Amino acid sequence: MPKAVTRRSRRARAAAPSHNGHAAAGHVKDIGLAREGRLRIEWAERSMPVLRAIRSRFAKERPLKGLRIAACLHVTTETANLARTLQAGGAEVFVCGSNPLSTQDDVAAALVAHYGIPTFAIKGEDHKTYYSHIVSCIEARPHLTMDDGCDLVTVLHTKLKPYLRGVFAGTEETSTGVTRLRAMAANGVLRYPVVAINDADTKHLFDNRYGTGQSTMDGILRATNMLIAGATVVVIGYGWCGRGVATRAKGMGATVVVAEINPLRALEAAMDGFQVISMAEAAPRGDLFVTLTGNKSVLRREHFAAMKDGAIVANSGHFNVEIDIPALERLSTSRRTVRNFVEEFKLRSGRRVYLLGEGRLINLAAAEGHPAMVMDMSFANQSLSVEFLARKAKTLKREVYRVPQAIDEQVARLKLRSMGITIDTLTPEQDKYLRSWSEGT
Ligand SMILES: NC(=O)c1ccc[n+]([C@@H]2O[C@H](COP(=O)([O-])OP(=O)(O)OC[C@H]3O[C@@H](n4cnc5c(N)ncnc54)[C@H](O)[C@@H]3O)[C@@H](O)[C@H]2O)c1
Repeated sequence: MPKAVTRRSRRARAAAPSHNGHAAAGHVKDIGLAREGRLRIEWAERSMPVLRAIRSRFAKERPLKGLRIAACLHVTTETANLARTLQAGGAEVFVCGSNPLSTQDDVAAALVAHYGIPTFAIKGEDHKTYYSHIVSCIEARPHLTMDDGCDLVTVLHTKLKPYLRGVFAGTEETSTGVTRLRAMAANGVLRYPVVAINDADTKHLFDNRYGTGQSTMDGILRATNMLIAGATVVVIGYGWCGRGVATRAKGMGATVVVAEINPLRALEAAMDGFQVISMAEAAPRGDLFVTLTGNKSVLRREHFAAMKDGAIVANSGHFNVEIDIPALERLSTSRRTVRNFVEEFKLRSGRRVYLLGEGRLINLAAAEGHPAMVMDMSFANQSLSVEFLARKAKTLKREVYRVPQAIDEQVARLKLRSMGITIDTLTPEQDKYLRSWSEGT
């Protein structure tokens, strides 16, 4: 094992005696995958110029010196580059997966072996192991949490409360996590301020829409190799992610129908050119159903029962609760795996329904998640928000905060520059005009 790992593992053990049997340097599937992981991490780094620029500044200024960060994120090549950025800023970073099926085992191995970052994540880990990995990160006694879906924060606020004492702030990556945190703040149980990365414009407008749009189709194609052209694709939830998937599926030649519960979003989908119908109408029509709501039992018993033979159901929302899998099981006489990430449920009616990726986010289960080019912005927001919290958390309340506007704009500006795009600036006359009220027609 390389020296860095041994050094780090000793330090981690000193900081965080492990009670759950995992070596403090991490718990990964196969450390032998590290070389492959490193190559892929470097490949992603090429498409992350904003994060690279932040990393070189962090390396000089060390704004995160002395900070311990517990990061519960999808363990992908892009996340590895975020962890390296935080590490360059002086932080000690501990990583665990934010979903049992989204870990890239070669990346987890490389984080441990090449970058000395204790990582606790194995693709396909069971429920118990998933939570024990979160516990391992919390046992590192973080000062700051970085979550994707709020599972780590929930464990910290329920089962491991003593560790709350050392935590002064956190960040949250995704819509579902922000929803949970807002509920915690409203119930008065949130114990430290959290910045909602998802709410930055340079996050949800791009990551959720273009990232999820493309990578969800990628996951579905890798799992099924189905032809999208000519298929009827039912997109459930027309939020940022749903907009992305609907647009990509349309571009590939599908007939796209949208199901929504929010009248404004439904109206927007209709005027974007999609047919908006109820799930009762959509169930017998769809060839492929994709849930992106952040809600539970969006596809349920009555929908499965009405689906045509061969219908495919997939989820790209955060948790595996959007498709009511127990209900599908109850309707079925058999369940078998027919391809990687494809399970066939034979219904009593004789019809077959195919479930992708155990109902977990299909873009990360069957593909590689979002392209690095878009994660560049999300993780630039993460890095700069951690820097902001390191300086300002003491002035904040136990609430959920937006990413400061200045950070959002800085990320957009850096991204534009990296893309070679120059934009205009206001003339002094225009600037004055926009700030005045006296001039009319
Ligand atoms: N797969 C990924 O990589 C990825 C990336 C980003 C976000 N997410 C997750 O995707 C989910 C959606 O995120 P978002 O940013 O689009 O959220 P959003 O809030 O913008 O959109 C969710 C939409 O679903 C609708 N909805 C809720 N319940 C519904 C129901 N029963 N039927 C139909 N529509 C319903 C809401 O009205 C809303 O318009 C969240 O769980 C989020 O955490 C996944």
